[in-house]
Amino acid sequence: MKLEKRDWMFITVIIVVLGIFIGISGKEKTTTVPNNQMHKIAYDTAFRNAPPPDASLLTRTFFKPDKKGAEAYCEPCHLEKGVQFPPNHPPKNRCLFCHKLQR
Ligand code: HEC
Ligand code: HEC
Repeated sequence: MKLEKRDWMFITVIIVVLGIFIGISGKEKTTTVPNNQMHKIAYDTAFRNAPPPDASLLTRTFFKPDKKGAEAYCEPCHLEKGVQFPPNHPPKNRCLFCHKLQR
């Protein structure tokens, strides 16, 4: 098969789109939620309905952790333990949109 000019344009578009995609995903540098004893309650809440490892791929693919449930614990505990928010911290509703769980 001979590649026409149109084919090359198509390939270029795909490469550019892939490049943008990779560029954006590399920018995610917000600290993740540490997966430690302190944050166990957040992980346990988010994944309490997680399908077992032997569940079907479909079930596991479409499982959504209960992020809202887990987020209910974040700020109260951080205030109680005196964890500082950086002074320029963005609006704090929905912690887990920005601070990803490590799993
Ligand atoms: C039971 C208490 C508790 C809960 C619940 C909790 N945190 Fe924390 N978090 C802490 C403490 C204490 C620290 C300070 C560092 C440490 O001990 O892990 C911390 C540190 C952090 C850090 C900074 C980590 C770093 O590397 O500097 C982030 C981000 C964070 N928590 C996000 C969250 C989010 C998001 C939630 C809710 C899903 C949450 N935390 C729930 C107590 C808690
Ligand atoms: C709109 C995005 C966003 C939301 C929502 C958000 N944060 Fe952050 N958070 C950031 C950014 C950006 C930083 C500064 C960069 C960094 O350290 O990751 C930060 C920093 C932090 C830090 C300090 C991390 C460190 O390493 O010193 C903690 C702790 C933290 N956030 C906790 C929370 C908690 C708890 C919530 C929910 C109540 C929350 N954040 C919601 C974006 C967000």
